[in-house]
Amino acid sequence: MGGGDDEMLRGEYVEPQSFTPSTKESGWRTLPLPRRKRAGVTVLLAYETATPRSKFGHSIIFLDRQIPKEVHITMTQHPTSLDDIHDQIWRMLQEATGTRHHGFHLPTLATVSENGEPAARIVVLRGADRAGRYVTCHTDARAPKVAQVDAQSLSAWVFYDAEARVQVRALGRVAVLDPAIDAFAREAWLGTNLSSRRCYMAPSAPSLKCDAPSPNLPESVRDRLPTEEESQAGLANFRVLKATIEAMDYLHLAHDGHIRARFVYDGDGKLTSTWLEP
Ligand SMILES: Cc1cc2nc3c(=O)[nH]c(=O)nc-3n(C[C@H](O)[C@H](O)[C@H](O)COP(=O)(O)O)c2cc1C
Repeated sequence: MGGGDDEMLRGEYVEPQSFTPSTKESGWRTLPLPRRKRAGVTVLLAYETATPRSKFGHSIIFLDRQIPKEVHITMTQHPTSLDDIHDQIWRMLQEATGTRHHGFHLPTLATVSENGEPAARIVVLRGADRAGRYVTCHTDARAPKVAQVDAQSLSAWVFYDAEARVQVRALGRVAVLDPAIDAFAREAWLGTNLSSRRCYMAPSAPSLKCDAPSPNLPESVRDRLPTEEESQAGLANFRVLKATIEAMDYLHLAHDGHIRARFVYDGDGKLTSTWLEP
């Protein structure tokens, strides 16, 4: 970056168009700042391009604080077609399974309780597969949500990535997979770590009433992780909830207008996509 960038960073306001990237790449661009301009300047920190509304639609975040040595400008290429949005959703879901800090890593899973009440809770997104059209999480066989999805298998999942400002709401038909009879669940168990496995060693069923605060862990592993061998005691309680996605609702928040779209799969997995008013 040459001297032109110094010009753009002078003063309280940075004209967004100044930063319009000439290419449509996503990625980071680093601007080295001259020492004398480090304090008290409003700095452009994030920059998004190309929403469907405008060729160079943009959202910007200004930070009015001591500026760092370098300013990172995020250029996120937001999709402009329904197909691109659909691609983006599955890409984000897949990335989130292995990325703790990804916004989609901790979705809310909503089920219907035995008496018809909504029941929502956070779970860890463990798997997402575009070809199979499913997302997965892990749980204890004795948890109330397992009986709930056995009785009413339709569930709602809500994902939000604050950085991308993208919400995805998905409707999924849940199957409860038992490693005793299901190879997919056995494979999932093999991928769990000892700290997760310890949870499945709980002596009492989750959600049972107890007389005092209880960690619901065997005495022997209260203060340490189980060994690999000990952890096998959790296998009988381990279940995979595999939700086959039937519909998804996408919302992207942007300063120049939110974008919304809906994706519905029929029984054969054939996709119908449509824009929605935000
Ligand atoms: C950050 C976070 C992650 C969680 N991940 C899971 C999970 O992956 N599986 C799970 O069964 N419960 C998970 N829980 C606990 C659930 O939110 C819930 O409290 C518990 O499963 C009981 O739900 P139920 O009574 O509706 O079955 C998590 C909670 C938090 C706060």
